[in-house]
Amino acid sequence: MIPSRVWVISDIHIDYQENFDRLLEFAARRHHSDALIVAGDATDRLDRLEALFRELTEQFLHVLFVPGNHELWVRRSGHDDSLKKFHAIKALCRETGVKMEPLLMGQYQKVWLVPLLSWYDDKDQPEHSLYVEKDYAEDRTDEMWGDFIHARWPADLAQPLARLFADQNEGFLQREFQHPVISFSHFLPRQDLIFHKPLADAMALARKFDPLPEFNFSRVAGSYRIEEQLRRLGSRLHVYGHQHRNRQRHIEGVTYLSHCMGYPKERQRGHVPADAIEPLCVWRDDTGFTI
Ligand SMILES: [Fe+2]
Ligand SMILES: [Fe+2]
Repeated sequence: MIPSRVWVISDIHIDYQENFDRLLEFAARRHHSDALIVAGDATDRLDRLEALFRELTEQFLHVLFVPGNHELWVRRSGHDDSLKKFHAIKALCRETGVKMEPLLMGQYQKVWLVPLLSWYDDKDQPEHSLYVEKDYAEDRTDEMWGDFIHARWPADLAQPLARLFADQNEGFLQREFQHPVISFSHFLPRQDLIFHKPLADAMALARKFDPLPEFNFSRVAGSYRIEEQLRRLGSRLHVYGHQHRNRQRHIEGVTYLSHCMGYPKERQRGHVPADAIEPLCVWRDDTGFTI
């Protein structure tokens, strides 16, 4: 008998039919005692999201999800603002049995799967932002970043958004988690995860080879609020997405893993490895953590 397993993936972007088809092919391969974590950026279309949730909950014992930035785009949605759409996504999760709350998994090893809702802190929130200045280019991120065009927030909303989402995790952060924890967020929890090299080396390379010098991803990458919360949880493994640059790092007792499926052209060009077309197993009930 196959033991229960925990699989992770993010940034499945199922509006690319190839991505959707390959995920459903994977889902159909005997996962009835498994959990699948989808760490955001599935689609901005609610009808598509519902179709995804219904397919996955048929095949997996548990499906866990946090919205990414793409889910909160309001174009093609019929919602006036992104907060209303967020509440519609929560309702859809309840209706389809997708979990956006902590779940204890396993009969023998046992592990908690804990979603952390999140957003990014821009450079006006220096205490939590992952911002790194590019001193070699004019910053035109405001004109170039899709969320600044397609997401819309109520004018009277308490800012910053990253706090609004982080505060929603506080209820279960007070709990005692007696078993190892796998936490997950869509956005990055630390600045050093943005880069594949130490910051000084990465910036020296970027000065020469940056393909998009006027776009500054670090402004919209994530937030140290996520790092604070995952440390409070005592996470052993934190899964995140968003950047479409897959990494595995071990920092001060926590393994940080990004396993984004990404866009077909990113896999063709090698920005995302070809094997990220399928979720990655990170835990099994017979042997515990696999990474
Ligand atoms: Fe994405
Ligand atoms: Fe994203």
